Amino acid sequence: MSEVRKVALVTGASRGIGRAIAAALAEDLGYDILINYVGNADKAEETAEMVRTKGVQADTVQFDVGDREATHSALNAWCEAHPDTRFEVIVNNAGVTRDNLFVFLPAEDWHKVIDTSLNGFYNVTSALVQKLVRQRYGRIINVASVSGMKGTAGQTNYSAAKAGLVGATKALAQELAKRKITVNAVAPGFIHSDMTKDLPVDDLKRLVPMERFGTPEEVACAVSFLASPGASYITGEVININGGIHS
Ligand SMILES: NC(=O)c1ccc[n+]([C@@H]2O[C@H](COP(=O)([O-])OP(=O)(O)OC[C@H]3O[C@@H](n4cnc5c(N)ncnc54)[C@H](OP(=O)(O)O)[C@@H]3O)[C@@H](O)[C@H]2O)c1
Repeated sequence: MSEVRKVALVTGASRGIGRAIAAALAEDLGYDILINYVGNADKAEETAEMVRTKGVQADTVQFDVGDREATHSALNAWCEAHPDTRFEVIVNNAGVTRDNLFVFLPAEDWHKVIDTSLNGFYNVTSALVQKLVRQRYGRIINVASVSGMKGTAGQTNYSAAKAGLVGATKALAQELAKRKITVNAVAPGFIHSDMTKDLPVDDLKRLVPMERFGTPEEVACAVSFLASPGASYITGEVININGGIHS
């Protein structure tokens, strides 16, 4: 009989924070990684190559986390094609920004951001949670934001999506605790990635007590800890990773 492969799914892992999380879960915990992306197949394959250098297996899977049908059908197809796998970790990381003052915010930009971060959490987690319940083990980690903790002007859509994600984290943690499934979130502040590359770094870093932006690896380190067996009694928690910005 073939050995069961333990797998971690990381959404939005083609770039940035998701890529660093994929690498950390492979290196620190030896997970095989399923790398989700929406458009950047080449970047997703780059992440897969990086993960494979850690001595584990990596696959890429394209779907829009905001599309429930596409998400369920891609994940079901992957599971059917890989019956020798056991999902242990789900990292809901995919996210986008569409910043604007609320008075100018078009409905499509409101919905796009909510669909990706908040509905994406629902679509992805609902596709896999019964597997975690049946195996009585799992780690669900949601990538929120300082904007969801304190609200950020110009980001009502993003702040709402991320605050919703924090509420969902705390509620689901209570539902799944007795099944030995933990549900936690991380709330990064300013992190270097494509999402922040056009921001005025020199101005904004003055708002940060550590006087710098963080790195994707600094977020990944906390996610890797929350995914580890050592974090087994932590659930419904949010770890702020923001260089000291009050939240
Ligand atoms: N950077 C920061 O300062 C910061 C701070 C707080 C929280 N966050 C959160 O951290 C997470 C990662 O952000 P990042 O900075 O790494 O962003 P990024 O560099 O822009 O990368 C975004 C990732 O999400 C994927 N993605 C976007 N929409 C998707 C969708 N509908 N379905 C599936 N995948 C999708 C992208 O895939 P493609 O490459 O295929 O487009 C990409 O892999 C996000 O949830 C973000 O809100 C970031």
